[in-house]
Amino acid sequence: MSEDQLVYLNGDYLPLPQAKVSVLDRGFLFGDGVYEVIPCYRGKPFRLQHHFARLAQSLLAIGLDNPHSQAQWRVIMRRLLAQYPDQDRTLYLQITRGSSGRRELAIPEDMVPTVFAMSSPLKQADPAVASRGIAVVTLEDIRWQLCNIKTINILANQLLRQRARDMGCDEAILIRDGYALEGSSSNLFIVQRGMLITPPPGPHLLPGVTRDLVLELAAAEGTARLEAAIPLAQLRQADEIWLTSSSREIMPVTRLDGEAVANGLPGPIYRQTANLYQARKASWQAEASW
Ligand code: PDD
Repeated sequence: MSEDQLVYLNGDYLPLPQAKVSVLDRGFLFGDGVYEVIPCYRGKPFRLQHHFARLAQSLLAIGLDNPHSQAQWRVIMRRLLAQYPDQDRTLYLQITRGSSGRRELAIPEDMVPTVFAMSSPLKQADPAVASRGIAVVTLEDIRWQLCNIKTINILANQLLRQRARDMGCDEAILIRDGYALEGSSSNLFIVQRGMLITPPPGPHLLPGVTRDLVLELAAAEGTARLEAAIPLAQLRQADEIWLTSSSREIMPVTRLDGEAVANGLPGPIYRQTANLYQARKASWQAEASW
């Protein structure tokens, strides 16, 4: 992360090392806040309305007002992205409940939120992922009951991801009550006999922006698709498994718990959908500016 980049904090644009918040901020003490990660291609945020909508839902769910109108957010985002007009970046937006000047669990009245935004380089996709796929491990979902909120309190996700890493895997697929839900920072799809299946929205998974786009592309292509719970046994028999996220797009999973998924190679429906995804990005990029 470049130290001279300007980040946004509570109305100011500051060099990164000068952006400081109180140690009594409830985000720091309790993880009391929400965030968004928005992929931006050559200075233009992708699926921005969907990210705004999810941010609004997350804020509502924890009882915070949106500190900015969409127009105000756009001003901030333009200023941050203008520093790197030709790069692909992610925008990170975070709102915490702020500080009341003391540490107390109950939420005091009249809190002033802490609003932070920055951009980071978007890692270029590794071509080996598309050609060979990734290895994942299934792990028991140790998270809480409100996984649909994009809260900054993602300690469990982080521990699960690290366990996957320690086992030589790229991601963990989280299992709750015998059902596969999502990755530690990605949504889950399987293909079985030509049918694309993803778990339905609910409290145990994040309503992913990429997930919605994949469903949209599948609908436009006439691919059979279904939102249904995926028992672990069904996951193990899948013809294809994919994980999706804004920063890593669609990742084919070719090893699950040390075993090959089907023939161990990314499948045909993955390739078709990944091509549609890139085509959608290209046509969007060619459209008028945001
Ligand atoms: N994470 N599920 C979880 C738990 C996530 O953290 C994410 C995204 C997703 C995918 O959502 P989307 O398609 O909207 O990115 C699913 C982001 C990228 C992150 O935390 O960096």
